[in-house]
Amino acid sequence: MKICKASDYKEMSRKAAKIIAAQITMKPDCVLGLATGSTPIGLYKYLVKWYRKGDLDFSEVTTVNLDEYKGLPKTNNQSYDFFMRDNLFDRVNIEASNTYLPDGLAEDSESECERYEKLIRKLGGIDLQLLGMGHNGHIGFNEPGEAFDLATHCVDLQESTIQANKRFFESADDVPKQAYSMGIGTIMKARKVLLVVSGKDKAETLKKALYGPITPKVPASVLQMHPDVTVVADAAAFSQMERG
Ligand code: F6R
Repeated sequence: MKICKASDYKEMSRKAAKIIAAQITMKPDCVLGLATGSTPIGLYKYLVKWYRKGDLDFSEVTTVNLDEYKGLPKTNNQSYDFFMRDNLFDRVNIEASNTYLPDGLAEDSESECERYEKLIRKLGGIDLQLLGMGHNGHIGFNEPGEAFDLATHCVDLQESTIQANKRFFESADDVPKQAYSMGIGTIMKARKVLLVVSGKDKAETLKKALYGPITPKVPASVLQMHPDVTVVADAAAFSQMERG
């Protein structure tokens, strides 16, 4: 595991964006696994900036996102599809047909999960998977207690996740109660993983994830078993690990 310390959110975003840019430069037709949430917003801004400068080309890149709320149409501004178009896809030269997310409106959850998993296999697997981490250690929507070998599945969101995400909705009641998520089994098959973490409120969980026991109670702890993980976090997120 490579640990990369950044002084603050901005530096974390820049360092993480450089790793993604390097992946695109080394393999222009790479498959990127992407994440939503507040943490990656800054790094997407850098990728857009470098594309505008002419330093990055997304024309051959394919993306598969980690997750999507069940029941939200793509047009809903809280859907992850909307988020991705707003923060990245509509701002760079990626082909819309090369960007994939689970379909929140799929009628049959089971076949939607199978379709998504097959799609990832058909694309040849994920070259680089970007991850954020929830306060409870979740990655994707793999909440504490989920088996480590799961493929894409439909998840019941935990109350703590609903509470954390209600800031984006009018009230907690409006937060969907279920989501589609790549499973930990899917994530662990990615050839490289990039975990970005920011903020003091995640410091305790990050310490457990990186140095605690590998346990489904802290889903991100599974990354200790992945052969190629880079963690980019800011000083606040590392604050429980620093001495002076
Ligand atoms: C988002 C996702 C989630 C978030 C996590 C952290 O696609 O899969 O696991 O990465 O909830 O969210 P933020 O960055 O908003 O703290």
